[in-house]
Amino acid sequence: MSSSPIAGNDSLVAVRDLAVRFATPAGPVLAVDGVSFDIMRGETLALVGESGSGKSTAALALMGMAGLSGKAAIEGRIALRLKKGNECDVNRLSARDLRQVRGNEIAMIFQEPMSSLNPVYTVASQIVEAITEHTKTTSAAAHARALELLHMMGIPNPAKCMISYPHQLSGGMRQRVMIAVALSCEPSLLVADEPTTALDVTIQAQIIALLKRVQTRTGMAILFITHNLGLAAEIADRAMVMYAGRMVEQGAVAEVFRNPRMPYTQVLLRSLPRLGRPREPGQKLEAIPGNVPSALKRPSGCAFHPRCTFMVQGQCDEHAPVIESCGPGHAVACLRWREIAAGRAA
Ligand SMILES: Nc1ncnc2c1ncn2[C@@H]1O[C@H](COP(=O)(O)OP(=O)(O)OP(=O)(O)O)[C@@H](O)[C@H]1O
Ligand code: SF4
Ligand SMILES: [Mg+2]
Repeated sequence: MSSSPIAGNDSLVAVRDLAVRFATPAGPVLAVDGVSFDIMRGETLALVGESGSGKSTAALALMGMAGLSGKAAIEGRIALRLKKGNECDVNRLSARDLRQVRGNEIAMIFQEPMSSLNPVYTVASQIVEAITEHTKTTSAAAHARALELLHMMGIPNPAKCMISYPHQLSGGMRQRVMIAVALSCEPSLLVADEPTTALDVTIQAQIIALLKRVQTRTGMAILFITHNLGLAAEIADRAMVMYAGRMVEQGAVAEVFRNPRMPYTQVLLRSLPRLGRPREPGQKLEAIPGNVPSALKRPSGCAFHPRCTFMVQGQCDEHAPVIESCGPGHAVACLRWREIAAGRAA
């Protein structure tokens, strides 16, 4: 019997007990603390949570990048089904194999395109290099593919864009070029870390539509990290909520957003300007009380307890909740979710 978490199911990625610890001068920072989740082929999983909750670190670990500085320790298992059908544990790959996985199997896009584009190379050479590094393609064929990708990204004059340097392009165009580089090898998973946060809403909508089109055509899965719950509801199939390095709720988007079980998710949703609940004139949005706890010193028990209106002393501050099922495909980490759901919690 195989012990692989993805054997026998349709998961593309199965992350189990992922923990990422950074060594800092102020002490160890446990940025990701025992997180488990799956990403299915072709689906969009939204990863949401306040700043500092560990979203980017979890995504970087998935790319096998978090350990590169030598100051981060990654534990746990990141099982990835490769295009050829076999699987690997990203956390145990050699540097050489990791380079093959990155870009070819998993690609990443960021809020700031210049963090992945090289300012001294033209757009053409960056896309061509990404293609020829991972596939047996002639440089002429890679060049043709690069043009096709830029066209697909809705870039008005792809031939001119090809010979441009990143600094000669607008922010929206750079974003499209970065996405073209990321999609050039048709990855099975695209990790998108706040890719549209810095863009105006029209360009944001165009980029999202573009990603959706590519997803429909290639069956690529997307891990979409965002602060914007409205956007998550719009584009994702499932949502995962992180708080203080831990996964606190996950499930189908419709279920998590309609029936949130974790008080943190509930308050996050109430802080949204709108989501199927038009605001009455003069009605205030609910602010989340308190601050995100420091990663250097997490609260005991449930990390959300200092901010939770349902907190019970001697219970929530002492016992860390484990993730448990609270409905079909819906899981939550809260000691009192049953009482809260039944309206019996004060
Ligand atoms: N290289 C690093 N060295 C030390 N600590 C780090 C490092 N990277 C992240 N952290 C810490 O890990 C925690 C999680 O950070 P992370 O960037 O993953 O959060 P995030 O959810 O992506 O936040 P944001 O929404 O602001 O992007 C934070 O406390 C952060 O300060
Ligand atoms: S475990 Fe307690 S403190 Fe944590 S979310 Fe549930 S009720 Fe609130
Ligand atoms: Mg981040």
